[in-house]
Amino acid sequence: MSPVRVAVLISGSGSNLQAIIDKIEKNEINGELVVVISNKENAYGLERAKNHNIEGLLIDSKTVDHHEYNRLILSAVKERNIELVVLAGYLRILDKEFIEAYKDRIINIHPSLIPSFCGKGFYGLKVHQSAVEYGVKISGATVHFVDEKADNGPIILQKAISLDFDDTAESLQRKILAVEHELLPEAVKLFCEKKLKVIGRKVSICK
Ligand code: GAR
Repeated sequence: MSPVRVAVLISGSGSNLQAIIDKIEKNEINGELVVVISNKENAYGLERAKNHNIEGLLIDSKTVDHHEYNRLILSAVKERNIELVVLAGYLRILDKEFIEAYKDRIINIHPSLIPSFCGKGFYGLKVHQSAVEYGVKISGATVHFVDEKADNGPIILQKAISLDFDDTAESLQRKILAVEHELLPEAVKLFCEKKLKVIGRKVSICK
């Protein structure tokens, strides 16, 4: 099987991007990371791409309208024959045209157990703050396919962690980020091995 051509979209630090790069470099994923696209100029993830000789592309969401911005990303991925789009801490919503063009080929990581603490406005520390304030005993990470609603598509993998009484939003974020760094590369690996099959709202993982 030839390596699957992957694009990773980021908005910030890119620690999840780094986790994917590391697994690809160790030949643990049958994928080629072709391009990293950021909507933010100062995203550290662009540096990470550069450090690993991966093309980094800035498509600044501030300078164009929503539709034009989506059109620019869509043509960037199509031009590079991308087969899988990974949202790794990417904080923009993709439009309908993009999602239809890459149906069941866009995956996202979210730092909670969906359907808790997710949807519009739930990103970064706010997710963990809400979980701590609610007093939940478990939270975790979810990797899912992307559909037209925020954090809504079929779930590929989830992993739970326990909260300690003294956990803060920051400590919970650190714990869950460590889980994300395992879960997201695992989902990418499964996709690249063609082991994921979407059946309605469910994802079957072939053995
Ligand atoms: C990660 O925790 C990711 O799950 C979250 O942003 C962080 C990005 O970290 N994404 C969302 O909240 C999306 N709703 P990273 O840039 O270090 O990978």
